Amino acid sequence: MNNLLEGKRGIIFGALDENSIAWKVALKAHEQGAKFVLSNAPVALRMGEIKNLADHCNTIVIAADATSVQDLEKLVQESMAHLGGKLDFVLHSIGMSPNVRKGKTYTDVNYEWMNKTFDISAFSLHKTLQTCMKLDAISEWGSVVALSYIAAQKAFPGYGDMADAKATLESIVRSFGYYYGNEKKVRVNSISQSPTMTTAGSGIKGFDSFFGFADKMSPLGNAPADACANFCVSLFSDLTKYITMQNIYHDGGFSNMGVSEAVMNLFEEKEKL
Ligand SMILES: NC(=O)c1ccc[n+]([C@@H]2O[C@H](COP(=O)([O-])OP(=O)(O)OC[C@H]3O[C@@H](n4cnc5c(N)ncnc54)[C@H](O)[C@@H]3O)[C@@H](O)[C@H]2O)c1
Repeated sequence: MNNLLEGKRGIIFGALDENSIAWKVALKAHEQGAKFVLSNAPVALRMGEIKNLADHCNTIVIAADATSVQDLEKLVQESMAHLGGKLDFVLHSIGMSPNVRKGKTYTDVNYEWMNKTFDISAFSLHKTLQTCMKLDAISEWGSVVALSYIAAQKAFPGYGDMADAKATLESIVRSFGYYYGNEKKVRVNSISQSPTMTTAGSGIKGFDSFFGFADKMSPLGNAPADACANFCVSLFSDLTKYITMQNIYHDGGFSNMGVSEAVMNLFEEKEKL
């Protein structure tokens, strides 16, 4: 389908490099006729790659640390000024755990870092939503999408304190979704995405086996980043107007599996040896 996002304005957070889920969303949203501003933390902008994406999408980059309400207010105001009106969509594709990055296991976390994990990976969604609501920055039927992972529901060793942050993120989706829906008819959802080869993904210990296991468990295989981007576009579009307060699995069926024949076969081969 073409021009699904014609006339829509948005903010896309989290494009770091061409592997980022947000990078692919920006490409697809541009293809579908959307106008948007790109944003990332000042430290991420120093890496410079996002400028190439902005040139391709004919837009600008505005730095904002998503844990800073002041930065977010400035970003939202400047974005509306640049785009010429209120927003129709926001992509929150932000996550980072200093504990996971620095190899601290779940039973030996540094609590200052854990606060950062929550602030960056979960509270930043609340801060973004609250800022947008106070500035009345999102049009009716607008759509906010955040990225999550199934470690919010089930135990995944190695995902560390990010699991708790994702559970909080999904809770904010429900809680804020209620208020924003009631007051302004704005939708808030999260997409629980398959393991994906990105900077955030590969920061997780044992990510390759993690990725391979999920792929073998899922009847459709792991959902690639491109497919995730398409799904984001559909959630920004008017075709999904009545979906809100949901965490939707985009994972090739993984979340409903107990075990797959492909995984059992791996053990059977071992037994034969
Ligand atoms: N890669 C996976 O396996 C996977 C699976 C499910 C969900 N997700 C989620 O998808 C989202 C995007 O991650 P990705 O895999 O594309 O990796 P990524 O590393 O490309 O993106 C994470 C982004 O968060 C940004 N960020 C970190 N701290 C920030 C701050 N203080 N303010 C603003 N931005 C900040 C980073 O600069 C980066 O652009 C994250 O929420 C991640 O948890 C990823």
